[in-house]
Parts: sequence; structure tokens; C-alpha cells
Amino acid sequence: MVNSMTTYHPHIPVMLVECMEGLITDPTGIYIDGTLGGGGHSKEILNRLGNDGQLFSVDQDDEAIAAASAYIGDDDRFTILKGNFGYLTTLLPPPNHGQVAGILLDLGVSTHQIKEGERGFSFQEDGPLDMRMGTMTGLTAYEVVNNYEYEQLRDIIFHYGEEKASRQIARAIIENRPIESTGELRSVIAEVVNQKFLVKSLARVFQAIRIEVNQELEVLKDVLTQSLKVLKTGGRLVVMSYHSLEDRLVKRFLKAGNFDGKVERDFYGNDLSPFRLVNRQVITPSPHEVASNPAARSAKLRIAEKINGGGS
Ligand SMILES: C[S@@+](CC[C@H](N)C(=O)[O-])C[C@H]1O[C@@H](n2cnc3c(N)ncnc32)[C@H](O)[C@@H]1O
Repeated sequence: MVNSMTTYHPHIPVMLVECMEGLITDPTGIYIDGTLGGGGHSKEILNRLGNDGQLFSVDQDDEAIAAASAYIGDDDRFTILKGNFGYLTTLLPPPNHGQVAGILLDLGVSTHQIKEGERGFSFQEDGPLDMRMGTMTGLTAYEVVNNYEYEQLRDIIFHYGEEKASRQIARAIIENRPIESTGELRSVIAEVVNQKFLVKSLARVFQAIRIEVNQELEVLKDVLTQSLKVLKTGGRLVVMSYHSLEDRLVKRFLKAGNFDGKVERDFYGNDLSPFRLVNRQVITPSPHEVASNPAARSAKLRIAEKINGGGS
């Protein structure tokens, strides 16, 4: 799937200023960009760091890594870590554990991944049923669409896509197997959903399959949990999500340090959360930003600071 000849579709970094202001508290610190993509956020982090600052940027996508390396160029302060951010503590060299001043996560897929039909993420382009963000995961959309049982498909479409017509869509997929391409999948879905809401249904089903292929909610939980091991006390966790399932996990974790969102208290009733929320209200892009970059429209930004030495 990864082709060094592929032209990288530019990705406009979302809420760039808001992310930087939330993330960088010390220009000499060590920072992690867990989602390098085209390198827009990483480049701005480097612009704001001094000579002693350091940035480790993670991506599992070879095309993103090639594009971001070219965009950022040589910089002694910058190291790319190729891999899944769900293995953050394995990817980050151990001397940095417990020393990190800020972690940025800009979740989801990049403009390039969506627009490159060959990657299979888009219902607007015909392409193979792939949807892997990196070559390291074995599962592809083809296997989900063609091999999953009815109940599995229905549940994925319902829970990860929040699509009401999950039963009809799962049944139609099974009846039309084998389905070979994103275009064929689109036609199968179009047969059974309300035409008025076709684009919304397509977006939901494609999102659901993508989440399953990349195990997005599981790896998000992993990286959030591991953030406590790599951040120093006072370090910031800055997370931008693009759908409610991710945002719910982020919101609960930043509030309580767990995924139930229930703050633990000691015998005296003191709050034992490992974080202090930097912004009580979620931050969303300005109307001006959404007008110039519609891909930013569903972004939700949450920022917290590690306290209490949690996790270290
Ligand atoms: C929304 S884009 C980031 C864009 C970036 N902030 C920029 O300014 O160009 C998300 C990137 O994170 C990567 N990504 C998503 N989930 C990942 C994971 N679990 N591990 C590593 N990289 C991941 C994707 O491959 C994609 O390149």
C-alpha cells in the first residue's frame, strides 16, 4: 500500500495555536507528537522550542513519515519514532520516561489518508478495502467486510458508527459477498439506507470499519494510560479527537485517570485524579477556522496537566 512515489495530500493542522498554547510550558523540555501526519503540528512545536528542547514524533504510516521528514528537514532536536502510539513506552527511549513536558495527540486519519483512494478510507474514491493506517496491523477492511459474522458486523456498525440501520446494512453486506472495493461497499449500503441521509450513513459505516481495522479505541486507551508513565509532574496531555467515542474516553481519562470517569478519593475525601484540567470546557475551532478548513469542524480539544505523580 505504501508507495514512495505517492504525492502527499497536504494536511492543514487543526487548532494549531490552541494546541501549542496548551502544550508548551517549557521551551527546553522534551515533547511528544504522537500523531506526526504531515508534520504541521510537529514543525510548529520545533519553531517554539529552544536549542535544548527535544521532540519525538510518532506515526505508523510510512507515507506520513516520508512527507513529514521532507517538510521538517534535518533538525538535531527532532526524532521520528515509527510505530503505533499504543506502544508509546516501548517506542520512547527509557531515559525520557517520566521526563516529558507535553504530549500532543491529533487523533484519526489525515487528509492524505482520506484522499488517497488506494488506502481505502474514503467512500468518495473507489479503492481496495484496506483502511490500515500502517502496514503493521494484519487486519484489513476486506476481512471485516467479507469474513465477519452478522452479529460482529452489526455491533461494529452500531457501536463504532452509531448508525441506526446497522442490522439492515450488516445483512446487505453478507448477502452481497464477496465485496471487493470501497465503491462496491458504497453501492451495497446505498441500497438499504434512506437516500436523504446516504452520505451520513456512508460516513458512519466507513468510520466504524476503520475503527475496527485499526483498533482505534483500544490503542487510544493504551496511549492515555501510558502517558502517565512518560509525563513528568506538571507535564501536559493535549488531545484532539474527531468523534464522540474518542472524546468520551479522553474526557473521562483527563478528569479521573480512568475510563469510568469516576474520580477516586482518599479516606479524607481528597481527589486522587492524576490530572488537573487546564480547560474546564472543551475547546472547539473558531467559525473562521472551520470555514477555511472544513475538516476541522468536529474537532474537540482537551488539555490536562499531570499532578500527584500518577503512574510514575
Ligand atoms: C490527524 S493526522 C495528524 C496530522 C498532524 N497533526 C499534522 O499536523 O499534519 C493523524 C496521524 O496519526 C497517525 N496515527 C493515527 N493513529 C495512530 C496510532 N495508533 N499510532 C501511530 N500513528 C497513528 C495517522 O497515521 C495520521 O498520520
